Amino acid sequence: MSKEGEEVSNKQILFRDYVTGSPKESDMVHNDSTIRLKVPEGLKAVAVKNLYLSCDPYMRALMTKHEGDPSHIVPFTPGSPIQGFGVAKVLDSGHPNFKAGDLVWGITGWEEFSLISAPETLFKITYTDVPLSYYTGLLGMPGLTAYVGFNEVCSPKKGEYVFVSAASGAVGQLVGQFAKLMGCYVVGSAGSSQKVDLLKNKFGFDDAFNYKEEPDLNAALKRYFPEGIDIYFENVGGSMLDAVLLNMRAHGRIAVCGLISQYNLEQPQGIQNLFCLLTKRIRMEGFLVAEYYHLYPQFLQSTLQYIKEGKIVYVEDTVEGLTNAPSALLGLFTGRNVGKQLVVVAHE
Ligand SMILES: NC(=O)c1ccc[n+]([C@@H]2O[C@H](COP(=O)([O-])OP(=O)(O)OC[C@H]3O[C@@H](n4cnc5c(N)ncnc54)[C@H](OP(=O)(O)O)[C@@H]3O)[C@@H](O)[C@H]2O)c1
Repeated sequence: MSKEGEEVSNKQILFRDYVTGSPKESDMVHNDSTIRLKVPEGLKAVAVKNLYLSCDPYMRALMTKHEGDPSHIVPFTPGSPIQGFGVAKVLDSGHPNFKAGDLVWGITGWEEFSLISAPETLFKITYTDVPLSYYTGLLGMPGLTAYVGFNEVCSPKKGEYVFVSAASGAVGQLVGQFAKLMGCYVVGSAGSSQKVDLLKNKFGFDDAFNYKEEPDLNAALKRYFPEGIDIYFENVGGSMLDAVLLNMRAHGRIAVCGLISQYNLEQPQGIQNLFCLLTKRIRMEGFLVAEYYHLYPQFLQSTLQYIKEGKIVYVEDTVEGLTNAPSALLGLFTGRNVGKQLVVVAHE
């Protein structure tokens, strides 16, 4: 490590400007900057070295300015480094909760080194007998999303029929495994035969299908769920949601985790089959993981136990180097990632 206070070079990925439609790599700009690795006197900040950065679909929403919608999260600032989840090592701290050498996960910048001014939002990593990169996925925000979305929002019961879309991704692969551990019957959909194979042979889903090869999603769901669906873990929206509504059972639950098929559309697709909510008395509920961080300790404890017992596995899709981060992020919207997409910025 360089000497305290020394100015070092700092490669960054800056957010260029607000986006409509599909984002492009040129919306994220490479920049050579410098940074002092010492927290200025009196600042309750931490200076960190970024190790892993997480690519997450919600980052697309931060590329658009949602005028007149106060419920929406604050977008990226044009000209500033992209902000996202990551794993980092503390180099210097002005905050009583952190010291040099601590490993943390939470919101950081897409750059080699960051000065994080509100480190209270960071989680200290105390368990390191797993790959550190897991704290971008399995043991980080997506893992908690799968855990609370399934256990808190879906109200699952043993033996129920569960359907998961984008099932091989960062969140989906875990939802399926949590549902199997609960004793449910689980089917997943994904966008390639490689992903379908993972679902069936690695993650233990009872069945899986490639939605891109199904001209009639309603017919496909009827084939996989002849008795209907009790729980739908919604990651994609659009025509899949419409087909699922037709196949839900009475008193079914739909946890709306994400609607990725809609994120790049300038005009969102309409949903035609909402009448099923009424006739089948379905509960459809959106949720944000940000409202469930108080459950992180219990999630971490139980998931670590499952990992130790070999009851949960996790697939990551890793790219090397900050320069490859923009294309990795965009790959989420074409299904290029196989498993949790992350970027290695530096090794510890
Ligand atoms: N509510 C929350 O707090 C919360 C937190 C985290 C994530 N999420 C949401 O959870 C969902 C999954 O996130 P993740 O991190 O696990 O991502 P991911 O599944 O690892 O990656 C995104 C996947 O979405 C699929 N996809 C992309 N475009 C699609 C389209 N037009 N139609 C259908 N599928 C499409 C692709 O898989 P295929 O090859 O299978 O198409 C792609 O690999 C997203 O909707 C995300 O916004 C919500």
